[in-house]
Amino acid sequence: MEFIALIADLPVRLILSNPLGEHRKSEIRRISGQPDFYQCSRFTEKQVFHVNFPIEKLHEFLMKEFSQYRQIDAWGFQYVWNVKRTKKDKILVSKKANELKVEAGAHNRKKSYILQEKMVVPALVDLKIMDSEGNVLPSRYDKFKQINRFLEMIEDVIENEDKKQWNIVDFGCGKSYLTFIVYDYLTRIRKLDVTMTGLDLKADVISACNLTAQRYGYEQLNFKLGDIKDYQSDRDIDMVISLHACNTATDYALNQAVRWNAKIIMAVPCCHKELLHTGDFSGVAMFGAYGLSKERISALLTDNYRAALLEKMGYRVDMLEMFDLSHSPKNILIRAIKCDRKQSQKSKDVIEQIEGHLKVRLTLGRLLEDE
Ligand SMILES: C[S@@+](CC[C@H](N)C(=O)[O-])C[C@H]1O[C@@H](n2cnc3c(N)ncnc32)[C@H](O)[C@@H]1O
Repeated sequence: MEFIALIADLPVRLILSNPLGEHRKSEIRRISGQPDFYQCSRFTEKQVFHVNFPIEKLHEFLMKEFSQYRQIDAWGFQYVWNVKRTKKDKILVSKKANELKVEAGAHNRKKSYILQEKMVVPALVDLKIMDSEGNVLPSRYDKFKQINRFLEMIEDVIENEDKKQWNIVDFGCGKSYLTFIVYDYLTRIRKLDVTMTGLDLKADVISACNLTAQRYGYEQLNFKLGDIKDYQSDRDIDMVISLHACNTATDYALNQAVRWNAKIIMAVPCCHKELLHTGDFSGVAMFGAYGLSKERISALLTDNYRAALLEKMGYRVDMLEMFDLSHSPKNILIRAIKCDRKQSQKSKDVIEQIEGHLKVRLTLGRLLEDE
């Protein structure tokens, strides 16, 4: 008996009954406050014994535990499950919709995500976030949630646009995991007509991405070799994405987006070095007295400066929390939407204060000035 489908439904509570062994019943629950752990309580007539185990062991644990029982009742996110072992050792599984949407406990899965389980997204399968039937692996559920969150950030913006055709550029696309997922979402799920181009400096990465796009059958997703600052597009660009493009590569991406009048910009800057190395922190000890704090503050100030410049160029800007598929857990996403509103005093102040106190004009400031 395989419990894969039941496990993929992320059960919050399971009761094993109709015993064959020494315990009367076993109850398995998510541990409150520790979403990655389950606790199994085994009941005898007079006592209860507890054992904790990590979420990724649920399958293995359940297989063993069920050898001592004939029945499992389980409450998952989508279904209420009933598993029975007959006297002839046949396993019968039935499930019905979990209409009460049983509280998914520590897992906090109350909302419905943009990508649902069973929607097979090839890149998510390749990333081993879901299996080939679209079941999200419990241990990768957090990643699945984060990717959904990123799609929501895009959806929040495009849902207000009465537009079916989108041209998108992804600058510094690298291995393009999210690019494939975004393309899949917009074309296959949202049914939009999307042409998307990923650009990167690395030839091997570009050819691998083109092969993957072919393998997935993504006809209007292509990858090109080139430098962000030299890239020319023969069509209007509606959205510019740039995730973790290093240091000032982000500034070139933002500059291109502004120049194209792109409606939407989604940028996650990284490797901020410019302000750290060229800013004069001597007059502002509170910003740069100690090594690591200076590095962190420089990065935040740089992103504030970028956000303020985007505002100056007629964008409404939010800063949101973003994740990285490969390494650092937290990052800042600069999301900018073209709205042609007047520049706020706040953004003028940010630019003036950074340039004035730190005696530097950073790349984006210079590029936009050249326009
Ligand atoms: C850290 S990787 C991020 C890849 C991907 N966007 C992601 O988030 O997983 C940064 C990528 O930006 C590319 N890159 C850096 N500067 C670039 C430039 N000036 N033009 C094009 N690509 C650039 C690098 O080659 C690298 O693949």
